[in-house]
Amino acid sequence: MAQLWGGRFTKQTDQMVYDFNASIRFDKRLLPWDIEGSKAHVTQLAAIGILTEEERDQILEGLSGILQDTREGNLEITDAFEDVHSFVEATLIDRIGDVGKKLHTGRSRNDQVALDMKLYTRDRIDETTALLKDLLAVLLNLMKEHMQTYMPGFTHLQKAQPVTLAHHLGAYFEMFLRDRDRLCDIRKRLNLCPLGSGALAGTTYPLDREMTAELLSFDGPTRNSMDSVSDRDYLIEYLAALSMMMMHLSRFCEELILWNSNEYGFIEMDDAFSTGSSIMPQKKNPDIAELVRGKTGRVYGALNALLTTMKGLPLAYNKDMQEDKELSFDAMDTAANCLQLFTGMLETVTFKKDRMRESAMMGFTNATDAADYLVKKGMPFRDAHSVIGQMVLYCIDQGKAIDELSLEELKNLSPIFEEDVYEAVSLESCVERRITPGAPGPKEMERVIGYYEELLRE
Ligand code: ARG
Repeated sequence: MAQLWGGRFTKQTDQMVYDFNASIRFDKRLLPWDIEGSKAHVTQLAAIGILTEEERDQILEGLSGILQDTREGNLEITDAFEDVHSFVEATLIDRIGDVGKKLHTGRSRNDQVALDMKLYTRDRIDETTALLKDLLAVLLNLMKEHMQTYMPGFTHLQKAQPVTLAHHLGAYFEMFLRDRDRLCDIRKRLNLCPLGSGALAGTTYPLDREMTAELLSFDGPTRNSMDSVSDRDYLIEYLAALSMMMMHLSRFCEELILWNSNEYGFIEMDDAFSTGSSIMPQKKNPDIAELVRGKTGRVYGALNALLTTMKGLPLAYNKDMQEDKELSFDAMDTAANCLQLFTGMLETVTFKKDRMRESAMMGFTNATDAADYLVKKGMPFRDAHSVIGQMVLYCIDQGKAIDELSLEELKNLSPIFEEDVYEAVSLESCVERRITPGAPGPKEMERVIGYYEELLRE
């Protein structure tokens, strides 16, 4: 047991208490960020004359050595320390002697851990943003490739109107774009530096908080020291953004799983992203998509857990807040993993265009367009709706698609029908004539794709 706070105590901590209280098992991943923060703190302490330049350099070198040795496997972060902060300070003192004891001047573990979590979260946000960009790029390529890939659009999981695969994928592009924007907002709000807030009430040392903020690439120091040590809003916001992103991935996975089924047959997943069955030799299962869908629950869980942990906490720091780490680290790892795997999976999917087209042809997805045809010839929409309803009933009875009816059959339903109806209800023209902003028509899709290309270039 190596602790930073033995002085006031007359008894050893009970071993179970020590283990229960310790966070090193999971906060050791914060080491690089903890050291980065300490370096800024020490640099600043020297700048305001609390440390000599020589002391500063000794400490900086000691800190660099600790980081390097742990990275190279020459120094182990063991359970003998309470948390990562204790590990660094104790190891530093062990290595460079008494001067190491000056590191924690004008600092508390409360502002230290608040800083570490912010620095760590900020980097993970940047990582997620980059991974989202990869996914958006893959989506955009697929969209460009599938402008003419026709498929049914669904409502209630019933065939509704024809769309293109490009348009369907474009809906996901929008979702992931919003996810990326959300991360950008969160990062902006997060970017004030809590270092120098002390335990809760600042310090009596004339710390240059502007300087540490700048050294650590923050926009400036936080404005209230009590809030600074007890704020985990940015982490909750990030978990909420990840939850939303996982929800989007999960919906996409659900569709890919459906499309990959024998019944749909719209896609085939690559062998590298599929798995087999131990008993049924014919099986090729979309396990990766299912796992991404499943792991969404895990990320929601972390969000709920942290919200609940925080809800009853009085100001300022409380040990409850140590619970901000394990589940949120797990959620960040999970989300990053899912995002990366999903992108690889999507990139290698084979889209079966003929099957999609056939499906769009067969489900009366052009019924609205047939009604619109009659409207253009002067029939009120409600009457046209009724005629086409009878037409669908007739088609079901005859086992035919709308465009398979003869002109004679059509004229029996309404004398208004002419030869030009076939062109009007063809799949191509059903899509082509959808020209409103946001619709799947090719002109509009081209405009939107141009806009997306511009966005990704930035
Ligand atoms: N391991 C602690 C945490 O993660 C560090 C802060 C400890 N502060 C304290 N006052 N005990 O929250």
